[in-house]
Amino acid sequence: YLLGLDIGTSGTKTALFDENGNTIETATYGYDLFQPQIGWAEQNPEDWWQACVIGIKTVIEKSGVQASDIKGIGLSGQMHGLVLLDKNHEVIRNSIIWCDQRTEKECDYITETIGKERLIAITGNPALTGFTLSKLLWVRNNEPENYKKIYKVLLPKDYIRYRLTNVFATEVSDASGMQMLDINSRNWSDELLKDLGIDKNILADVYESVVVSGHVTKEAAELTKLAVDTPVVGGAGDQAAGAIGNGIVNEGVISTVIGTSGVVFASTDTPKFDKDGRVHTLCHAVPGKWHIMGVTQGAGLSLNWFKRTFCAKEVEDCKTSDVNIYDLLTEKAAKSKPGSNGVVYLPYLMGERTPHLDPNVKGAFLGVTLMNNHDDFVRSVLEGVSFSLKNCLDIIEDMKIKIDDIRISGGGAESEVWRQILSDIFQYKLTTIKASEGPALGVAILAGVGAGIYESVEDACNKIVKGGDNVVNPNPELKEVYEKTYEVYNSAYPRIKDI
Ligand code: XUL
Repeated sequence: YLLGLDIGTSGTKTALFDENGNTIETATYGYDLFQPQIGWAEQNPEDWWQACVIGIKTVIEKSGVQASDIKGIGLSGQMHGLVLLDKNHEVIRNSIIWCDQRTEKECDYITETIGKERLIAITGNPALTGFTLSKLLWVRNNEPENYKKIYKVLLPKDYIRYRLTNVFATEVSDASGMQMLDINSRNWSDELLKDLGIDKNILADVYESVVVSGHVTKEAAELTKLAVDTPVVGGAGDQAAGAIGNGIVNEGVISTVIGTSGVVFASTDTPKFDKDGRVHTLCHAVPGKWHIMGVTQGAGLSLNWFKRTFCAKEVEDCKTSDVNIYDLLTEKAAKSKPGSNGVVYLPYLMGERTPHLDPNVKGAFLGVTLMNNHDDFVRSVLEGVSFSLKNCLDIIEDMKIKIDDIRISGGGAESEVWRQILSDIFQYKLTTIKASEGPALGVAILAGVGAGIYESVEDACNKIVKGGDNVVNPNPELKEVYEKTYEVYNSAYPRIKDI
């Protein structure tokens, strides 16, 4: 058996698989997100750890599997989050997580100090508010007393690795999202760290994602019911891990994910850059490969926000019936029309990455008239998120990346209505993957490679990842209406960005 953990933004999923990739048991435990100011987002690393402990224990107990039969553990999680430990290995402050947007000034400083072109050539990306480097510099500028205490800087899943194994380590896919890695040599960039005055010793050792980085300690085994010495492999950031879970390990097959954030992801055999850095270029968790991805900040986040803010009645109705609130909302969306009867939603609730790289832009509903109803608004949210994913797809097409097959996953992809809208807007066939547990499966595969069960990641994906149990075909008759609405969507950003 293999165990995969995905330390997400809304909760941690623990999943146990057999060696053929069949899911044996899963458990998910949630935690809070703190927003002390507009555009800020923090979480408490101890909450992640507690969710892992109870998740692992539950999965082992419920499955009845002997802990000693678990041959490896893979860690995945939300990328870019800043976890700071002091010399006693205690957490210094709450983690500033991926969607936090407070670091614009630090990004300007990084660009001025390193130069945009050089920064893209080394790290694969321009300075980004979401990435860890700018968060670290924010602490240096704003909380110098905390900065002085730093002994190690870790990513969310690497903090969990530390709690499980007592080892400070990371791996190339997630480390690329810290913006301190030279993605060409797949190692920390000495020149960049020197120019920015950052001590390399505060960074963890970096490995390829399939390499065993540590073993479960006695203390962690007692808490989780894992066997002492179970190997823990590098693992991967949630996007690279999810891609592996969907079999995105060769050029030609790309994926799109509607999670809290939304992503279009392609594996590449060499590092490929968009000259404006509108899509990220990062190391893939497959040794010797890279990937590019376009990211929209507010995908599932938008629908969740819409539900919380405008759907009290629907939420109440669902409490007294068996209907899932998201099924109810997407059914409402289906009652509106393609183009949402003129309502256009811009999903910039937490600024936007691809294609605008703008932490300050705000969301909007445009084109509202007296005839619009609630259904139109719900549909416009699904369409707006899909348009922002099309922005990602367009850039990937412009970069001449081969697209033979697009696989769709993530919570939003569970909705037939949303899958169809995305397929109609992309005008591409989309396929879903059978019983994929996404990132958790991806890192379980990496653990299997590390434990010697599979020869390589590609080999494991060939055996395990079964594609195409659900195919969505685009409706050519909707091409025109969506092209027109997409034009309106695209023309909105330059007009609203300054107001
Ligand atoms: C990727 C990204 C998000 C987070 C949260 O760059 O920021 O996908 O990893 O899931």
